[in-house]
Amino acid sequence: MERERKRKQQGPGRPASSRATASISPTDALFLSSRLPRHNSCRFASPHAERRSPQCKRLPATIYPIGNAQMGQVTRYMLLTGASRGIGHATVKLFQENNWEVFTVSRRPFSDSCKWPAAREAHIQADLADLDSIERIALEVRRWLPDGQLHALVNNAGISPKGENRSRLGVLNSDFRTWMTVLNVNLVSNALLARSLFPELVRAKGAIANVTSIAGVKVHPFAGTAYAASKAALAALTREMAHEFGPEGVRVNAIAPGEIDTSILSPGTEEIVDHGIPMRRLGDPAEVARVIYFLCTEASSYINGAELHVNGGQHV
Ligand SMILES: NC(=O)c1ccc[n+]([C@@H]2O[C@H](COP(=O)([O-])OP(=O)(O)OC[C@H]3O[C@@H](n4cnc5c(N)ncnc54)[C@H](OP(=O)(O)O)[C@@H]3O)[C@@H](O)[C@H]2O)c1
Repeated sequence: MERERKRKQQGPGRPASSRATASISPTDALFLSSRLPRHNSCRFASPHAERRSPQCKRLPATIYPIGNAQMGQVTRYMLLTGASRGIGHATVKLFQENNWEVFTVSRRPFSDSCKWPAAREAHIQADLADLDSIERIALEVRRWLPDGQLHALVNNAGISPKGENRSRLGVLNSDFRTWMTVLNVNLVSNALLARSLFPELVRAKGAIANVTSIAGVKVHPFAGTAYAASKAALAALTREMAHEFGPEGVRVNAIAPGEIDTSILSPGTEEIVDHGIPMRRLGDPAEVARVIYFLCTEASSYINGAELHVNGGQHV
């Protein structure tokens, strides 16, 4: 109640008076500039000026330069699912280094190997296959946000179940339970989290990044049918959300990794590397994390509804 009262007093778009503030990096300063007051009329002469509406909100580039001291001390907030290892872990580390405060979700309690500040307190232990957990997660996040603003939601948690002896699960050997678990974790929970936290994302003019997969666009020798279908559907969901949320200032994009060096890989991946990846190597989780960071910050301010391939050219 107290937090809600404070937020109403302050109004939307104000910097968070946070528990842990930190100085901002140049990239972040540019990102934040987009959330400062804008001019109502367009001052730019352009051959297309007549096509702009009177409410055109183009930002005068000279007013808030990168690293402007006016920006002060600001913390930004992100919720990332599947942070306990792999791509999620690398992503949290990168955002932390750039002064973001990160809330995480995974089935396991937070690992002691995660050394970032407040890692333990900001972790929510939940199983995304259980869709009843979504409201609890959203409630926790809302409780932590000092000004009701969530700047990024990264839907990264994913599962790729295997059959006996790690065999590929095709249509014929995927049962109802496999389908429901994979779809709930890889797809439906993403939509429901975005729905629950939409007001917080709107207040921050935030961004959503969904982690899809190369398996969503071509048959993969190890990823199963339910996994591939869930990732293709997540790409469609990304477009849908970009279309629906764009008018509210929330951008939604996807990152489609190829073969990234994490525990999700199957034995035999070397074969794909040698014959299917023009760059002839696995990707590093940090290389995916950098693209996620790009999609959640001002550097990508006009990118909405895109799916970026991070796969060394595997899709070509
Ligand atoms: N690595 C690749 O080559 C590759 C390629 C294409 C796409 N991707 C996608 O990239 C994302 C991250 O993959 P990764 O390689 O980093 O995988 P990973 O190493 O297996 O990590 C998966 C993460 O998701 C969490 N998770 C799994 N099931 C969950 C559930 N039911 N509820 C909550 N959290 C859950 C895991 O934590 P807990 O086990 O503690 O729950 C873990 O933190 C996934 O969406 C994956 O499909 C990866």
